[in-house]
Amino acid sequence: MQSGRTTVSKFLIEQLHGTDDQADLAALLVDVTAAVKAISAMTSKGALGGFLGALDTQNVQGEVQKKLDVLSNDAMIQACEWGGLVAGMASEEMDDPYTLPKEFERGPYLLIFDPLDGSSNTDVNVSVGTIFSVLRHTKIGDPTVADYLRPGVEQVAAGYAIYGPSTMLVLTVGKGTHGFTLDREIGNFVLTHPDLKIPADTSEFAINTSNERFWEPPVQRYVAEAKAGKTGPRERDFNTRWIASMVADVHRILMRGGIFMYPKDTKDPSKPGRLRLMYEANPIGMIVEQAGGAASTGRGRILEVQPTSLHQRVPVMLGSKNEIARLERYHAEYD
Ligand code: AHG
Ligand code: MN
Ligand code: MN
Ligand code: MN
Repeated sequence: MQSGRTTVSKFLIEQLHGTDDQADLAALLVDVTAAVKAISAMTSKGALGGFLGALDTQNVQGEVQKKLDVLSNDAMIQACEWGGLVAGMASEEMDDPYTLPKEFERGPYLLIFDPLDGSSNTDVNVSVGTIFSVLRHTKIGDPTVADYLRPGVEQVAAGYAIYGPSTMLVLTVGKGTHGFTLDREIGNFVLTHPDLKIPADTSEFAINTSNERFWEPPVQRYVAEAKAGKTGPRERDFNTRWIASMVADVHRILMRGGIFMYPKDTKDPSKPGRLRLMYEANPIGMIVEQAGGAASTGRGRILEVQPTSLHQRVPVMLGSKNEIARLERYHAEYD
């Protein structure tokens, strides 16, 4: 595949040619790109757009919703509800799955998304993103919550958009991970980063160290050894980064390697992690695996976790696979 001026729709039609999903999945993902363009336009207007700031509502996790969380959610619904491609949608910003209005045809897919990832960064003009996951819906009738609770290995497509200095879309339909850049003058996503690969080794890690005292011993050990540098057991210096937008941290890892961790901690013992399985960990996990990386809870592959609720949280460790294997080893030695 040439990276010249291949648009995302042409790329998807070619990748899906001859598969069960050929026409419908490409069409759904093109609808997703329409939402992404709308969200990109809103986020890039910044303070001039009147979209910044918080609402006085909370989502199901008790997070105060930003205006842009809700507007981005609406953009995804509007772009994807009418085309006869989805049977239903679920997101971080909706307590329960969205039932399509009666007038729209029901389609073969379930779309699950984080409309605006890293939304605490909108007011400080730091990169944010959108994350999405596509599952098949094989039953007749509107989906129930139980229909959404499929493990990540069943995803037929996943991806994210990053609204940074440029807007990019990174996606997979299970045939590698590919990156596209929005050409604003033409209005198309153009293939710029075909077949992304995460190097197996790295000396860079991302974790919110303000939680260090709450981590489990295997994660404390990993970070302490990395911080010990050349004279420690790892015998080399490590570098750290933390953007507080998972998409931005993951995007850096896809570009140059590294690992990202949001482990289980004891800060709030009722939560088994910070990030949400269905619309953060699973889609990003598929993207990372398709790029040759690994995505783990520390105790097993994220994509094999059987979900029990729509908004459940999960420990996340992902990126360069030899470092993720080391983290899994430290957990196994500790347990
Ligand atoms: P969201 O904005 O969709 O709720 O997700 C925020 C997530 C993720 O993007 C990021 O890695 C993490 O929260 C940041 O958490 P801290 O505020 O603890 O750094
Ligand atoms: Mn949130
Ligand atoms: Mn998020
Ligand atoms: Mn979000």
